[in-house]
Order: sequence, then C-alpha cells, then structure tokens
Amino acid sequence: MAVTIKSAREIELMRESGRLLGIVHDELGKAIRPGISTKDIDKLGEELIRSFDCIPNFLNYHGYPASICVSVNEEVVHGIPRADHILKEGDIVSLDAGLIYKGYHSDAARTYAVGEISPEAGKLIEVTKQSFFEGIRMAKAGYHLYDISNAVASYVTAHGYGIVRDLVGHGIGTKLHEDPQIPNFAQNRKGLRLQPGMTLAVEPMINMGTGDVVWLDDKWTVVTADGAYSAHYENTILITEGEPEILTLPE
Ligand code: MF3
Ligand code: CO
Repeated sequence: MAVTIKSAREIELMRESGRLLGIVHDELGKAIRPGISTKDIDKLGEELIRSFDCIPNFLNYHGYPASICVSVNEEVVHGIPRADHILKEGDIVSLDAGLIYKGYHSDAARTYAVGEISPEAGKLIEVTKQSFFEGIRMAKAGYHLYDISNAVASYVTAHGYGIVRDLVGHGIGTKLHEDPQIPNFAQNRKGLRLQPGMTLAVEPMINMGTGDVVWLDDKWTVVTADGAYSAHYENTILITEGEPEILTLPE
C-alpha cells in the first residue's frame, strides 16, 4: 500500500480526530492514581470516546478485547485491562488510545507515574517523551523518514536505554495502520521523502534494560524480556513544509 497524502478536507478531519483524542488522554491522565484498576481506565476511556460520538478503533482490532491498551511497568504495549489489576504507588503505566472521527483515525500514547515513583523510572518516562520530540524535529518536508528514526535512536542510545525493535510507528488516516512503518532504531537508509499532507503516528517504546521483548500467552501483552520497566509516548502528527503539527493534543 502506498503512503497516502491527505487533502485539505481530510486534514481537517484528522485534526478534529486528534484534538478529541488529546482530550481523552488528558482526562485519563487525571484518573491515574493508586487503587484504580486497569479495567476502570479502559471503561473511562471508552465512555469518553463514545461521548464524542467517536468509535474506539482498538476495540476488536484483530480481536483486541478493549478500547485502551494499559501497560504497567515491564509491560511495553497492548496490556489488556483487567478488573483485578490494580495500580499501586510506584508503578508506571502506559496508556495507548485511539479513536475514529468521521472515518479518520487518531492514535496516541502517554506514560504516567502512579503516585510517587523512583527517580530512575521518572527519567525513563522523560527521556521516552523527549525522544519523540527529538524525532519530530526531522519530521518536515524535504527530510526523509529515517531521519526521524535516527534522531529518536541517537537520543535514546545516549541515555543508555534499549529501543524496542519488534514494534514500530506507522502512517495513519482512514486506517489505523497505513504505510510507512516508522522504526525507532537507527537505519542505514534514508527512507521515503517526507511530504506535506502525510499523517504519521510516531511512537518510541523505550526500555530501561535491553530492547528485547516477548509476548505473553494472552497473545497481546508485550513485556520486556529482562523484566525491566518500559515507557511509551506517541502522537499522530501532520507533515507540513515547516514544523510538524502535533494533532493529538487537546488544543
Ligand atoms: N496503538 C497501537 C499502535 O500504535 C495499536 C493498538 S492495536 C490494539 O499501533 F489492538 F492493540 F489495540
Ligand atoms: Co500507533
């Protein structure tokens, strides 16, 4: 499948999709505290998405059984919400959420501290978030796709963390996952030339230990192979001639 270039009308719909998802994330962030179950987070997320007359795009995606992916500590992504999984002080929790607005998908992830966390865990969350911003400095017309990958990778590697290689970012639009794939690890090639109107989900998944991951028996939950903590940060962005527009923020 080719990389799609969105029209002005499609960009407007992507903007609104992203803006609503940004609100969902802000509200979910406020709900994070010791004692809440990962299922409660999913329920709140689904309610918020539906309150905007949008559709949770993760629900039933290849059989995924929830609307929000809730991944705690050594869980990297695609954690399945459970009523008996209660967040506790010191945990870190990654929330990955997406929605469909008038046929247009948005996708974003944040990692939060639950109560007071260790300085080491706090640093992992900060570096993971910043690696996204380092990456998107290269996300403009005239640069190449793997400029983004290389910028994320060099920032993360300088901090000594492991980059997940088995999962990547992606194009997004009328489908949740469109071309191209966007690795977060270093590439020896340039990749495609970025053009205005491309919409991309850039999503570094960063581990305190090695980048190696394994899948649990539930077939969804991805965890670090060494059991070390992992963080995730993602936004849907729009490529323009100048600075990229981050679509999945509330304003
Ligand atoms: N947000 C994930 C991604 O970035 C997709 C999750 S799909 C689900 O690609 F089925 F696990 F929800
Ligand atoms: Co994504």
